[in-house]
Amino acid sequence: MTLRLGDIAPDFEQDSTAGKIRFHEWAGDDWVILFSHPKDFTPVCTTELGEVSRLKPEFDKRNTKAIGLSVDPIDDHHAWAGDIEETQGHGLNFPLLADSDRKVSDLYDMIHPNANDTLTVRSVFIIDPAKKIRLTLTYPASTGRNFAEILRVLDSLQLTDGYKVATPVNWCEGDDCIIVPSVSNEDAKTLFPEGWDEKKPYLRMVKQPKKGS
Ligand code: BEZ
Repeated sequence: MTLRLGDIAPDFEQDSTAGKIRFHEWAGDDWVILFSHPKDFTPVCTTELGEVSRLKPEFDKRNTKAIGLSVDPIDDHHAWAGDIEETQGHGLNFPLLADSDRKVSDLYDMIHPNANDTLTVRSVFIIDPAKKIRLTLTYPASTGRNFAEILRVLDSLQLTDGYKVATPVNWCEGDDCIIVPSVSNEDAKTLFPEGWDEKKPYLRMVKQPKKGS
């Protein structure tokens, strides 16, 4: 099944390193990063899972839970967790789904047979509290992901959900934003009383709104 932005993330029940997960119930009212990796006891995956563990405080700040997946059995996940802690300095602090029966991989189309017919690719889904898919990414097995980019997208999504702005190329938290084209200049005066820099009628740069304001 091809999942697209705006679709409801399919619910599932699957075994994990944190016990059985009922996905929607586990997600609760938080944002979720659901990501697959190809295989346990592999080098790139080891670095990725260490990094996601290291970043847990950053995910917490954004009311976001991480959950990983591969088609390896649960005993492998538990055995591998020791290697992740030993080599990356951060022990697994989020659940890893053991998707040996490929239930979740198939639901989320994480196996791309022309790349590899048995292993999951490096898929990423950002899912919002309404369970809508807000971002999809697919990386090849040989390329470790940049989880700073995933945090950056979370920041953008959480900001643009609350204010009538979009974020420009390479935007990072605190940088100027763009007033969305659907807002008239008349309405912008109320929404952005400190003004904006109109580079073109369709390109109006504004200071990043302060979250909570
Ligand atoms: C890795 O995580 O290092 C990896 C996994 C599968 C294929 C290639 C690399």
